[in-house]
Amino acid sequence: MADVSLNDVYKKFGKTEVIHGVSCDIKDGEFIVVLGPSGCGKSTILRMIAGLEVITTGDISIDGKVVNRLEPADRDIAMVFQNYALYPHMTVYKIMAYGLRIRRMPKNEIDKRVRNAARILELTDFLDRKPRQLSGGQRQRVAMGRCIVREPKVFLFDEPLSNLDAKLRVQMLLEIRKLHEDLKITSIYVTHDQVEAMTLGDRLIVMDNGYAAQIGSPLEVYERPATRFVAGFIGSPAMNFLDVRISPDGGSAQLRGDVKLALENGSIPEYAGKDVTLGIRPEHFKLTEEKEGVMHLSVDHVEQLGADTLVHGHFGEDKTSLTVRMSDIQQFKKNTILALKVPSQKLHLFDKESGKRIGK
Ligand SMILES: Nc1ncnc2c1ncn2[C@@H]1O[C@H](COP(=O)(O)OP(=O)(O)OP(=O)(O)O)[C@@H](O)[C@H]1O
Ligand SMILES: [Mg+2]
Repeated sequence: MADVSLNDVYKKFGKTEVIHGVSCDIKDGEFIVVLGPSGCGKSTILRMIAGLEVITTGDISIDGKVVNRLEPADRDIAMVFQNYALYPHMTVYKIMAYGLRIRRMPKNEIDKRVRNAARILELTDFLDRKPRQLSGGQRQRVAMGRCIVREPKVFLFDEPLSNLDAKLRVQMLLEIRKLHEDLKITSIYVTHDQVEAMTLGDRLIVMDNGYAAQIGSPLEVYERPATRFVAGFIGSPAMNFLDVRISPDGGSAQLRGDVKLALENGSIPEYAGKDVTLGIRPEHFKLTEEKEGVMHLSVDHVEQLGADTLVHGHFGEDKTSLTVRMSDIQQFKKNTILALKVPSQKLHLFDKESGKRIGK
């Protein structure tokens, strides 16, 4: 068990800088998810922690000790790769034991660890099978078992579930979470899938193009996205974005079509009269009979998801498209006009240039 610290870590491949100064203190026993779209630098960060990539500048420490120059084998970490390969001619038992045998661990200790890992992963009945006699999910568990037996200080996972079908993925997610609760080994898990991230992470590092755009718990990231990028990346369907102008007193946001939305806690004088981006999550619109601060949405089409309904429509003279989520079954005909209101504490504002969150 160990804490892991990244201190202003940069990575260049040749002249191209792909990680631009990431810092994060990961606590002992914490489950951290590195989340972001393809190419944002997730695997690179993981590979630097593992020692598979050289750190250009900055430090990474494990258990208080800077490991920048330590070989991967000396870092006491175990990594589950996206495309793990299992030796096809070995049994599950031998695959799990292999890493311990080459470290010359006594046979009875190896046996104890393999059987314990098999029990945790529910692989006891499969120890004599070979990989081709296993399902995708069982193979995935063997790949994890091979890491668990090492009893490492830190677990690293690089998109380990991306080649499983949706149902198996959900099942494996719960298993990984349970495993973590049993073993409490510090874990860093890379994914581009926000559902995986929200389910697994104690905290998320949301990556945007080589920067850590936000580090926080799943709820913090959902409720107070630090940038427009994070706001758009987390949440499904995605947050709606609208152009608004802040009133001269800084106390309300003016939408096209003369709708004024009062801002929580009064004013943001530094943005008085300026154009900013307003973000509203689809689930925060409510049908209303009120007259003030109401948005009139013209319905284009309705998607029934079973438990809830998505209404796609447009608003205002410039026909800004909006998506609204209602938490029950709703039938609306095309061109129906819906009067909608959003509680002021659910409005998000972002600076147009920097993309940074405005206000608290
Ligand atoms: N060995 C390399 N040489 C040059 N550029 C690289 C190398 N490895 C990665 N990169 C670049 O670094 C950036 C980050 O890559 P990385 O693999 O970390 O992304 P990622 O977030 O893991 O993406 P994905 O979700 O597609 O796996 C990319 O632009 C990639 O092209
Ligand atoms: Mg990757």
